[in-house]
Amino acid sequence: MDLKGRDFLKLLDFTPEEIVYLIDLAAELKDKKKRGILVDTLQGKNVALIFEKTSTRTRCAFEVAAHDLGMGTTYLDPKASQIGKKESIADTARVLSGMFEGIEYRGFEQAIVEELAEYSKVPVWNGLTNEFHPTQMLADLLTIREHFGRLKGIKLTYMGDARYNMGNSLMVACAKMGMRFTACTMEKYFPAGELVEQCREIAAKTGGSIVLTEDVEEGTKGADVIYTDVWVSMGEPDEIWEERIRDLAPYQVNRHVMDNAGNKAVFMHCLPAFHNLKTETGAEMGRRFALTEMEVTDEVFESPQSLVFEEAENRMHTIKAVMMATVSADGKARKKRKVQAKVDPGLLEGKSLREVRYLPDSEVQWILSSEECEVEETDGFIIMPIEEAREKFSEIREILATESEQTVLFRKGRHSNKWYDFIGKA
Ligand code: CP
Ligand code: NVA
Repeated sequence: MDLKGRDFLKLLDFTPEEIVYLIDLAAELKDKKKRGILVDTLQGKNVALIFEKTSTRTRCAFEVAAHDLGMGTTYLDPKASQIGKKESIADTARVLSGMFEGIEYRGFEQAIVEELAEYSKVPVWNGLTNEFHPTQMLADLLTIREHFGRLKGIKLTYMGDARYNMGNSLMVACAKMGMRFTACTMEKYFPAGELVEQCREIAAKTGGSIVLTEDVEEGTKGADVIYTDVWVSMGEPDEIWEERIRDLAPYQVNRHVMDNAGNKAVFMHCLPAFHNLKTETGAEMGRRFALTEMEVTDEVFESPQSLVFEEAENRMHTIKAVMMATVSADGKARKKRKVQAKVDPGLLEGKSLREVRYLPDSEVQWILSSEECEVEETDGFIIMPIEEAREKFSEIREILATESEQTVLFRKGRHSNKWYDFIGKA
């Protein structure tokens, strides 16, 4: 399995086999770390860690993992860098690509990390956006697999705000791994219909399933994993607390929920958690709304069923696996470069794909190897201007292979349920 040069932006971009590969690698790295075996094969490399939102686990996991692998780290917080205020994401990506072998980004809209990746020449890792938290997913899957010995068929119930990063990501992760995902919450907190449909399509192939329910008894009955997250996420306004507490209080994870799930069930939470009043926010909400705990009771959080600290530790091992798998030790598997020159549609007439790949100094920028001929077809390949290709296929970003210093073969995301391959000249 070669993931060198790949971005890690959301699990939707990865096949089940690739996800399992990353979990296996994390398990191997964890075992080696426990046995004191050093794996520092990325010595001399450096990674940038951009945090537009605060973090304990994700930042520490990236820093420790990078250091273990022999890499240097540079931490950029929202106040200390020019990002967004004086320098665009596209420019930042190109600047950092020249100095680092990988870039972690935690921020707001998913579109920002996607743009960063589009312009970066080195792998970009999503350290949490409003929509997705993919590195958390690998840690959660590893934790579940360690506990139950498998992933397929495991029933995970998520309670709380299921339309945000954690609900979305867990639904995708479960669909990919052939698990049953249940969102147990008020209907207005169900994940977006489009993503639910996409996950149902995936689940149909993997043997997983997606359930949406407002009913706590039904949603938690017999679940293997009960999962929750804070009721108000980073970046959301303070005014929202009152409504959230009112809406989500019936979906608190408490003893009744765990008993309904059964004594083999485990409790998970990405953390940080409001399970008592020993935090500033917890104490404030306690005062304002006469609460002693929020999304999970202290009793469940501290119970033997709770896996939260194993889960937190696994953040480090799984993030290490992502960096190890995607950073190229020899620096050759660089990502695509941004293409600027124009297409000459006539140039490839009669040439095979192989010949085309090694065409010197050609003006050709993209070849789409699909059957849907738009502009012109030569030898089974369709040629169209880059602007058209970009417009039509908005997510050209994943690398399949680097053919030479000059030429890179890309695979982009789905368009009208079809996959397309691209050849781009660097
Ligand atoms: N779970 C998680 O992402 O934690 P941090 O916000 O502390 O990074
Ligand atoms: N939903 C939470 C997750 C924190 C890891 C947030 O975005 O704040």
